[in-house]
Amino acid sequence: MDYKRLLVTSALPYANGAIHFGHLAGAYLPADMYVRYQRLRGTDVIYICGSDEHGVSILISSQKEGVAPQEIIDRYHGQNKRAFDRVGISFDNYSRTSLPVHHETAREWFEDFKNKGILTQSTEKQLFDPEAGMFLPDRFVIGTCPHCGYDRAYGDQCENCSKYYDQTELLNPKSLLSEAKPVVKDAQHWHFPLGEFQKKLEEYVESHAGDWKDNVLQQVRSWLKTGLTDRPISRDLNWGVKVPGEEDLGKVLYVWFEAVLGYISSTKEWAAEKGEPELWKDYWCGEDTRYLAFIGKDNIVFHCLMFPAMLMGKGGYVLPDNVPANEFLNLEGKKFSKSQGWSIELDEFLDSYPADPLRYTLAMNMPETRDSDFYWKDFQARNNNELADILGNFVNRAAHFLEKHFDGIVPEPGELSDDDRAFLNGFNTTAAEVADFYERFRFRDAVVATMNLARAANKYFNDREPWKTVKADPQVCASTLFCSIQAIYALSIFIEPVLPFTADKLRKQLNLGNEHPLTWDAPAVHRIPAGHKLGEKALLFEKIEDKIIEAEMAKLQQPEESSTAEASYPPLKDEITIDDVMKLDLRIGTVIEAENVPKSKKLIKLIVDIGSETRQIVSGIASAYEAADLVGKQIAIVANLKAAKLFGIESQGMLLAASNEEEGPMIMIPQGAISNGAIVK
Ligand code: 2FM
Ligand code: ZN
Repeated sequence: MDYKRLLVTSALPYANGAIHFGHLAGAYLPADMYVRYQRLRGTDVIYICGSDEHGVSILISSQKEGVAPQEIIDRYHGQNKRAFDRVGISFDNYSRTSLPVHHETAREWFEDFKNKGILTQSTEKQLFDPEAGMFLPDRFVIGTCPHCGYDRAYGDQCENCSKYYDQTELLNPKSLLSEAKPVVKDAQHWHFPLGEFQKKLEEYVESHAGDWKDNVLQQVRSWLKTGLTDRPISRDLNWGVKVPGEEDLGKVLYVWFEAVLGYISSTKEWAAEKGEPELWKDYWCGEDTRYLAFIGKDNIVFHCLMFPAMLMGKGGYVLPDNVPANEFLNLEGKKFSKSQGWSIELDEFLDSYPADPLRYTLAMNMPETRDSDFYWKDFQARNNNELADILGNFVNRAAHFLEKHFDGIVPEPGELSDDDRAFLNGFNTTAAEVADFYERFRFRDAVVATMNLARAANKYFNDREPWKTVKADPQVCASTLFCSIQAIYALSIFIEPVLPFTADKLRKQLNLGNEHPLTWDAPAVHRIPAGHKLGEKALLFEKIEDKIIEAEMAKLQQPEESSTAEASYPPLKDEITIDDVMKLDLRIGTVIEAENVPKSKKLIKLIVDIGSETRQIVSGIASAYEAADLVGKQIAIVANLKAAKLFGIESQGMLLAASNEEEGPMIMIPQGAISNGAIVK
């Protein structure tokens, strides 16, 4: 594809918590590697990001800690910016959505949509706190669950029975802001008609069927198949971008509506700081811009549907050409969870270890097509056995030999042998291969191919045996060292996207100036000339001892061991957003047939009528239910779960039931009759 300039963004992280490895591997490291590679190619590229500083998640953190939201965002914005910097994420600008430039941008977009008649307004019943004088977000109201009677249920979901409901259904609701009893009032909200963009979005997505990642296409297609509907874009909160014209009504723009515009406002800030305030337009509105939005998989719908629809509605803006979303990175086989101590914070990690071995380890385990893990032992092995023993070892041997036998001066090569020439030509092959992987967002493969050059260099050095030729045939020895130094030069360039700090050390060690530009093609066209004196040797990688890694692993396990209370239930899972919930299609259905699965003690096969169709569902409930008793019962099922085989029988969904080791399973049954196909929420 032909383009003049490249615009790269990474998801704006919420400024209410510290960046961890999962974030880094998901949306920042791949983008940074890609951008660094493109800079080496000489592409006109900018890399834009910033903190997402609005939304209920910030308010919840502020409430938990009992400090003002501003204090939360100031703390985490500063901390995350610094952590990104320390790990070498080379943003051209890292902004904040609390800045005036962002508020102005988001308000301008809203007004434009409103003036064009794109937005609609509707009225909904919502709980209003008469003392605080505001409508209550779901997480700010507590009451008795209408389903199970749990008396500390939040406005959207009960933590005891996991059911979802509307906040107005809560019994005995209480405002968490003032303790007052809320009243039900009509609330007006603005909606963005995403449904009206369905066809255009389908065309847009399908035009990328050949180049977007499978995980992205699958998720987006499934949303499109379900059918897009209007999205409310205003909220009753006193923290966020105020809705134009409703400044005194305590209304702000929905955080996702304005956060994606943070990419644009951050670019505006970048342009202003460069002294060319209009320059942002080239990147966002220029036809020959290519826009890439790097994100984690939980952000796919906003970047592939909502944001593109907004860009289409505004007109004159580029759409993401690719959204290379990664899956999730876990920690030692379990999800990252700060509250359970199952996490490694970036900033803290960087106090003990250099950034490059982490970047390398994460790149080698990047969750490109499926979830992956960070293991401490793997980190140690990658550092010790690959970075130190292969890359570090080669550079060290060659530089040491040059110092000892040639006073650190690159020797005159004389006539190169076929082996020497083949070795030098290999750099071009590496350059092409690695470039191809980067262009296709295959980061792990790019790094493997890069390290293969270090492997080849070690082999070359071994095979040429300079320690023998130094006496037996000094000219051959000189050629070997000449070529080895060229290999260090090539490596200093090819490793830069993944190991930027090491690349820098190599450049210093090679004592290179401007005559050796840092460009991807340089190793093919430039040689370090004979007579050039190398700089001081640097230690590239320090090995990590077993006891250090063991101590790190023990640190991870501590909080788990000490939490003995409520041991029979697993800890609560990580918080999710309403958008995660909306991915679940839960439906009511009636069991019309049920029979035990032959030879299985646990399984019952059900045929369930869910209104629009019937489903065959295999469920492990035989220990608690007679198949015949189930016929006629209404149950709730997950209707959009991918079909799977259990005992060789296809199960097209999952029935909802509660259980623990002693009790259950207990099927979830509606309190009264409701028609099949009804949505559970
Ligand atoms: O999931 C998140 O952390 C969001 N703050 C990502 C926002 S990306 C974009 F919209 F800014
Ligand atoms: Zn409940």
